[in-house]
Amino acid sequence: MDLIIKNGTLVDSIRCYQANLAIAEGKIRAIFLGNKNYKAEKVVDAEKKMVFPGLVDSHVHFQLQDMGKIISTDNFASGTKAAACGGVTTIIDFADQMRGESPLKSFYERKKDADSQVAIDYSLHVSKTDTKFLDEIPTLISEGVTSFKFFTTYSWRNLDLDDAELLVLFREVKKCRGMVMGHCENDDMVIRNINSLIQAGKTDPIFHAHSRPHIAEEEAIQRVLLFTKKTGVKLHLAHLTTKEGSDLLSQAKKQGLNVTGETCPHYLLLNEREYKGSEGYLNLMSPPLRHAKDQQALMKRVQDGTIDQIITDHCEFSRKSKGDGNFPFHQVLNGIPGIETSLPLMHDFLINKQKLTYPQLISLMSTKPAQIFGLYPQKGSLMVGTDADLVIFDPNVERTITPEILHYSIDWNPYSGLKVEGWPVMTILRGKILYEKGNFVGPHNKGKFLKCSIR
Ligand code: URP
Ligand code: ZN
Ligand code: ZN
Repeated sequence: MDLIIKNGTLVDSIRCYQANLAIAEGKIRAIFLGNKNYKAEKVVDAEKKMVFPGLVDSHVHFQLQDMGKIISTDNFASGTKAAACGGVTTIIDFADQMRGESPLKSFYERKKDADSQVAIDYSLHVSKTDTKFLDEIPTLISEGVTSFKFFTTYSWRNLDLDDAELLVLFREVKKCRGMVMGHCENDDMVIRNINSLIQAGKTDPIFHAHSRPHIAEEEAIQRVLLFTKKTGVKLHLAHLTTKEGSDLLSQAKKQGLNVTGETCPHYLLLNEREYKGSEGYLNLMSPPLRHAKDQQALMKRVQDGTIDQIITDHCEFSRKSKGDGNFPFHQVLNGIPGIETSLPLMHDFLINKQKLTYPQLISLMSTKPAQIFGLYPQKGSLMVGTDADLVIFDPNVERTITPEILHYSIDWNPYSGLKVEGWPVMTILRGKILYEKGNFVGPHNKGKFLKCSIR
């Protein structure tokens, strides 16, 4: 064997149990108790530690492009290294179709960019920004893209689809047996609010939240659920932020619609108050942070399994690129970092404070994302024959989050100063150690593209 991990508590989405793992050629070869006399090049003692399947963060934006220009601070190399240091071994990023151009071309270009840089395994969603090139969907599916992202807003960035286009896309994706994934906010409401707030001189970060009210999310989700019902397409709702949105997800599931949903650590842990103060501009993302009642409602929906997964929507910007606090809210780039802190934050919040179980945590952050997008059981499981992607996690170590202890390329963090109990101590990708004792120690670009399959 190449590696034995002994004395740890293994956790998958079903149970926690004491066992040892034997790994060879990148795969889990045996899960066993006692001493099987395996010869191994390296033995790791995980006593008093938990062993999780590597996290699958199925919604991230590394080297985000806006109309073809890279605008975010990290790239696939720095982003995936930070991810590995946070226990994430698989990401799904996005190839955004440039309106009027071929989505297949965007996919091949994005894949080429990522292939030479990624430290962990990855796949891609493809964002559709018009109804041209629908004939490329079958090829994209055969290339391993299962999910087609749509936006109901961001018309000013040429990203949105109107209702007629949404219906066309949904029908086509259903026909090709793919799925759609939606960023749902009502564009007319958002645009009108932005214009009137700016005209009234209301430019502070808090007005970002006012410009994108609850009803904008609720209305757009309700509309796309109707289109889902009419077309029968499988729908995934991206980054739910409101009580109303999560209630709609719950009702849709009860009606038997083929729909899943996600939220992010920041919508559970932070609220609108973060927009006050001189650093409020840093926390601008869309949809925005909400109210305490929404945090509680989302938590309830995480607890009862309505919300299927927790992902980060990681999108990293420096202070400078966010305008150093000098821009009106509508000109501040949207997005916050999150990939390296999601596991310790969610462990501390969901397990230590909200008393969820370890299998629930692993289901939310590893198994379900792999299942929904078609990477399971290769990813998101601890089973003989699957990829040896693992996180060794110390539930007892205490850390205070600061930018200095992280591997991001920026000097700020939304959770700076927050103390958490529990931190990853080792991350392993296909049997190779990537992160150990606070440092990235692995090969820099040995991540692989993963073909998703939901058939
Ligand atoms: O505010 C968010 N969610 N930023 C991520 C990148 C984008 O524009 O969707
Ligand atoms: Zn989005
Ligand atoms: Zn996003």
